[in-house]
Amino acid sequence: MGQNLKQTKISAGDDTGILAASKLLEQGDVVALPTETVYGLSGIAFNAEAVHKIFSAKGRPLTDPLITHVGRIIGESLAALNAHGVIDLEKFSTPQKEVSAKLMSAFWPGPLTLLLPRGKRITDLITAGHENVAVRMPRHEVFLGVLDKLGKPLVAPSANLFGRTSPTSAQHVMHQLNGRIPLILDGGDSQVGVESTIVRIESDGSLTLLRPGGVSVSELEQHLPGAIAKAEATTTPVTVAPGLLESHYAPKTPTFLVNEATLGHIETKDKSIGVLLTSETNWISERIIDARRLTLEVLPYDLEGRRAAQGLFAALHRLDHLELDLILVEDPPSEGFLWLAIKDRLKRAAKKL
Ligand code: TXA
Ligand code: MG
Repeated sequence: MGQNLKQTKISAGDDTGILAASKLLEQGDVVALPTETVYGLSGIAFNAEAVHKIFSAKGRPLTDPLITHVGRIIGESLAALNAHGVIDLEKFSTPQKEVSAKLMSAFWPGPLTLLLPRGKRITDLITAGHENVAVRMPRHEVFLGVLDKLGKPLVAPSANLFGRTSPTSAQHVMHQLNGRIPLILDGGDSQVGVESTIVRIESDGSLTLLRPGGVSVSELEQHLPGAIAKAEATTTPVTVAPGLLESHYAPKTPTFLVNEATLGHIETKDKSIGVLLTSETNWISERIIDARRLTLEVLPYDLEGRRAAQGLFAALHRLDHLELDLILVEDPPSEGFLWLAIKDRLKRAAKKL
C-alpha cells in the first residue's frame, strides 16, 4: 500500500487520548475514532495527504467519496458550514435551506448524513468529483472532543478494510487495520451499531434516501410533514454512493441470507456452520440436521430493531473469527424502523444464492 507498517496503539478515549489523536491528525496522520454508529478512520478534511492516507489504509478506491464530520461549532448552522467552506449556500434553493436547517436541528449530533452542495474547501478527492458533499455531526463525545480540539472537519469512512464488515469496537478496528494506522481511540461499543442514514436534499426540498441507517425513515417523516423520503431504487448506478455496492460489509467466511424457501438450496452436509438469527424462533437449526457443527448467534429482537442493530456487526465479526465453512443469516422478517438498515447491510454482506 506504499505505507510503512506502523505499530498500532489503542488508547482510552480520555483527555490524554483525545490530545494524542489531535496531535497526530494535525501532523497529517490518520486515527480511528469511535462514533455512535461505527468506528471511523479519520483525517483532517483540508489535508490532502491525510485524505490519501485514509484511502490507502483501507484499500478503498478513490471513486468512493468520504463523509465530512463536523463538530458543534462548524456544524452549528448552515451559515457556519458555509463560512468554513464545507457547503456553498449560494448553490442552495430556498427549500433546500429550510429542509437542511430543520434536519440539522432535529438530528444533529446524530446518525444522519446530509448530501448538500459542496463548499470551496471540499476537494474532488473527498467527494470523488461529485458536486454534493456528505456532512454529518457525530454524537460520540470522544469524536466530538477531537473535533472541538481541532476546530476543523474530519473526513471519516468506517474503519474497516474496503468491502469488509464495519467495526463497532476498538478491537474490531485493530483486527483489520493493525499495522496500517498509528492510533485507535477506544470509546466503547458503538451504541447505534449501523452507519448513518444518508439523504440527499433535492432543490425542491424533497428527500432521497441513499442509505438506510441509524435514523429511520419514519423518524425523518415525523420531523418533515409533507416531505417524501423515497427509497433508493435498486437500479441506482453505483457512482451515486458506492456504499450501495452490492458486495459490502462482507465477512471473509462465505455468508448467505436465507429464508424458509431458500434454506434448502444450501449444501450443509458435514459443514461447520454459523447461524445468525434475526427473529425469536430458531427454525434454522431445526431444519439443518446434517451439519458437522452449528454455532448460533441471536440478535435480540425488538420492534424497532435498535438492539439488533447494536449487536449486528459484532455478531458477524464473532462468527467470522471462528473459521467456519459458512455463515447463514436469517433474512429479517421486518423492514420497519432500523430493520431496513439491518436488512440492507445483511443483503450486501451476503453472497447471492
Ligand atoms: O455512520 C457513518 O456514516 C460512518 C461513521 C464513521 O461516520 N461512516 C461511514 O462512512 O459509513 P463510509 O465511507 O463507510 O460510507 C459512506 C458512504 C459511502 O457509501 C459513500 O459512497 C457515500 O457515503 N458518500 C460519501 N460522500 C458522498 C457524496 N458526496 N455523494 C454520494 N455519496 C457519498
Ligand atoms: Mg463503510
